[in-house]
Amino acid sequence: MPSAPRHPSLIPTFRSRALPFPCVDIAPATCYAVGDMRIGGPATVAVTGAAGMLGQEVVATAPGWATVVPLTRVDGDLSSADQAHAALLGAAPGVIVHCAAYTDVDGATRDPEQAWLGNALATRHVAEVAALVHARLVYVSTDYVFDGTAATPYTERSAPHPLNPYGESKLAGEREASRAPGSVIVRTQWLFGPGGHSFVRAILEAARAGKPLRIVEDERGCPTYAPDLARGIWRLLETPATGVVHLTNAGACNRLELAAAALEQAGLTGVEMTGIPGSEWPGPTVRPRNAVLASERLEELGLQPLRPWREALREYVAGLCDRWEREPGVDEADDRP
Ligand SMILES: NC(=O)c1ccc[n+]([C@@H]2O[C@H](COP(=O)([O-])OP(=O)(O)OC[C@H]3O[C@@H](n4cnc5c(N)ncnc54)[C@H](OP(=O)(O)O)[C@@H]3O)[C@@H](O)[C@H]2O)c1
Repeated sequence: MPSAPRHPSLIPTFRSRALPFPCVDIAPATCYAVGDMRIGGPATVAVTGAAGMLGQEVVATAPGWATVVPLTRVDGDLSSADQAHAALLGAAPGVIVHCAAYTDVDGATRDPEQAWLGNALATRHVAEVAALVHARLVYVSTDYVFDGTAATPYTERSAPHPLNPYGESKLAGEREASRAPGSVIVRTQWLFGPGGHSFVRAILEAARAGKPLRIVEDERGCPTYAPDLARGIWRLLETPATGVVHLTNAGACNRLELAAAALEQAGLTGVEMTGIPGSEWPGPTVRPRNAVLASERLEELGLQPLRPWREALREYVAGLCDRWEREPGVDEADDRP
């Protein structure tokens, strides 16, 4: 449960507003209001990108106070104003967790316009609805808004400087999201989880198939387990947070270390693995080398950091291996238990 809000500018709104809903039993410990938005009571929460890796977990981990309306591409293409407005207004949300995004980093480099449509324009439409219905908007963003040249981790106060079209489009999405009053921008990185493709899963699949691995060793980040991030987002929603918040599993590593940990936890031994510099990786995208995210805001909000990434990785790898053992012929595009 969150502790009482410490941000002084938010406390008066909490005290002065009569909240027109019961804040008992299923509500978090404290109820707040941010501007016209109520926080802490029952709420309808629209989750965009609900079929994606993170969106599935946000839906699956919803707390009792949230009535979730999952929205997928079938409900509307968010880059179309009409479809986005119809889908979101139909959900009548008090909160929108916007997980939908164009996430193909190399695809964005080849076709920046698609990335802009999926990340900037779509977010503009989502933010328009949030502003219209006074819904609290959570926009999920990325370490790729940074250039990764800093020697120290990036905090919420660090100046963004994306290196590639994906990062540019996500930063443009941040700017669109921030136009909705009270919005929260959650930056995360290196996601892995049961409902999607990820670096970790690609490594494990390649190793199982007996392929030698060449892995970039000069790229550092914080691996983040999608179910942990989803729970973190719900906890954030139980605070009066606005603005940018960095949220990852604790600890950083390079990709070679992450791959080695995943293989070890999966009991895959004798795999041929070579570390290479990012400059040798075939691909059209210039990627940030050292975009480790750190948070100065979690403590201020009374929130615990997410658990260490190795613990989360252990849980993920155990679940995946279990599934492979139980159903050897399982479609590897769907490793969800
Ligand atoms: N994955 C990572 O390592 C990572 C790291 C940092 C930040 N993030 C951020 O975390 C968020 C979630 O990422 P994820 O990995 O869960 O992504 P994901 O698995 O690719 O899921 C994104 C979902 O959004 C949907 N979508 C895309 N464009 C849409 C549109 N125009 N209208 C409606 N739906 C649309 C996709 O549907 P289709 O499949 O039909 O396209 C997909 O279901 C994103 O904001 C991403 O930028 C991810």
